[in-house]
Amino acid sequence: SAQGSQAGQITATPQATASASQSLTILYGSQTGNAKSVAEEYKAKLDGLNIPAKLVNMADYKAKQIKAESHVVIVVSTHGEGEAPDDAAEFHSFLGGKKAPKLADLKFSVLGLGDSSYEFFCQTAKDFDERLEKLGATRILDRVDCDVDYDSDASAWADNVTAKVVETLSTGVGQATPVAAAGTTTGSTHYTKKAPFTASLIESQKITGRDSVKDIRHIEISLEDSGIQYRPGDALGVWFKNDVQLVDELLASLKISADTTVELSGKSYTIKDALIEKLELTQSYPTFAKAYAEFAKNAELTALLEDKAALREFLAVRQIIDIVRQYPAEITAQQFVDALRGLTPRLYSIASSQDEVEDEVHLTVALVEFEAHGESHQGGASSFLSTRLNEGGEVKVFVEHNDNFRLPEDGNTPVIMIGPGTGIAPFRAFMQQREADESEGKNWLFFGNPNYTQDFLYQTEWQRFVKEGVVDKVTLAFSRDQEQKIYVQHRMLEQGAELYKWLEDGAHLYVCGDANHMAKDVQDALVQIAIEHGGKTAEQAEQYINDLRRAKRYQKDVY
Ligand code: 2AM
Repeated sequence: SAQGSQAGQITATPQATASASQSLTILYGSQTGNAKSVAEEYKAKLDGLNIPAKLVNMADYKAKQIKAESHVVIVVSTHGEGEAPDDAAEFHSFLGGKKAPKLADLKFSVLGLGDSSYEFFCQTAKDFDERLEKLGATRILDRVDCDVDYDSDASAWADNVTAKVVETLSTGVGQATPVAAAGTTTGSTHYTKKAPFTASLIESQKITGRDSVKDIRHIEISLEDSGIQYRPGDALGVWFKNDVQLVDELLASLKISADTTVELSGKSYTIKDALIEKLELTQSYPTFAKAYAEFAKNAELTALLEDKAALREFLAVRQIIDIVRQYPAEITAQQFVDALRGLTPRLYSIASSQDEVEDEVHLTVALVEFEAHGESHQGGASSFLSTRLNEGGEVKVFVEHNDNFRLPEDGNTPVIMIGPGTGIAPFRAFMQQREADESEGKNWLFFGNPNYTQDFLYQTEWQRFVKEGVVDKVTLAFSRDQEQKIYVQHRMLEQGAELYKWLEDGAHLYVCGDANHMAKDVQDALVQIAIEHGGKTAEQAEQYINDLRRAKRYQKDVY
């Protein structure tokens, strides 16, 4: 058969034996969008090879449909203590439950995304992998569990699974001529994670008060001449550089000269450049601890590797330099860079609408800072954007589209926005958009932060939105202005009757911000409101919230 050269490792001929109803479905379960974009890239790869495939969000997938599938590929992330993404939760429990069907005719493979510093690394992917096997399905390729820097592992898995699909799918795929230039989009130039746009900083302004416990910046970046288009709900991917001073201190601790040459994926750099631009230093991670421990030969560090929970606690309050200082090692420049993982860009929810700001993009960035081991520590991207990038300075960016966080298509639909802290960002974009569109739908913002006088982000803008009639209601929760903490979910409960009425009137509800605590507490509050004001049982209330989610009327952008 004519396997196109773009097929790479695909060499097998498809067997024209099995039933004609064969097809490939890619199911993804994504919380922050990574699994989704990996699945989309995989789909684009298949498109380029003329291999037909359906790409489906698990949230939109009828679980029973699985019985009718011949080939399913799953891309799913794991969060916190081994939890499935919200969108995957129902399908995940269906496959593990009593109603799960026998799947003897199904062929599958699973790709997991996760963070190896967590004990239950890629647990959701492991569950899917085990459950499908248990139901009798055939694994065509072993599961791959990707760490935070998932790019190369995910792409290798995609190549390998494609070869297996071609081998086992009997629709004559792979015989067609591959279409050229997969993944090109019509219209403007397409900048991506791997091929970002070099933008420049217009301004960076602290928008929390002098006495605030937080340092939050409003950042404006110019996209002039890029042709980049984004929509409210999208995120901006930001590549950053590590702090030169941090790198100098690290090299001094390692007793390695700054101009020593190292190799990274076949290219040569001075170690100083590699540490500034290519490698992750402001987070520490288990793969580094393991590799570095070989050279540190310290019993305490080696023992830590055996206890995942203790290791995670240890790593959570340390950056790479802290480990190097605490456990000096005999290590060469090359060995050290090999122990580090590649820098990954950070995603920020976009805080502007192009109908308002045209070729600019705005972000709301909290500077990550903490004291540990007698030193102050800062987050890599947030300190780059807040303090190291000067006006006019260059920053490499790309847009990460997010169709799971979109304003209602109908401008008349009411909108409820829950956005404490920097979670306010996409709602500023939403309201700029609704103002530009002259949408008639009602808008209600819930915002919270520590103190009213210090931390009411974009206060004058919200006041103007209210005055102009764009925003109908702003409900505030300043947690530290009184003895008892008051959070957004407390305000939601207080306003439960009205909130329920808005939902009954068709409102879409959006949550942005902290995933670990806030988003969960808000979810619980919603269930509580449906019980109290909808007269529902706990089970019915859960169902009500699930139905909202499935109808895309309850959307989250949490991190
Ligand atoms: P705190 O730091 O005073 O506890 C925005 O970052 C706001 O989120 C802050 O006011 C912070 O309050 C608050 N916050 C902390 N935990 C929260 C939770 N579980 N739910 C909602 N807001 C929370």
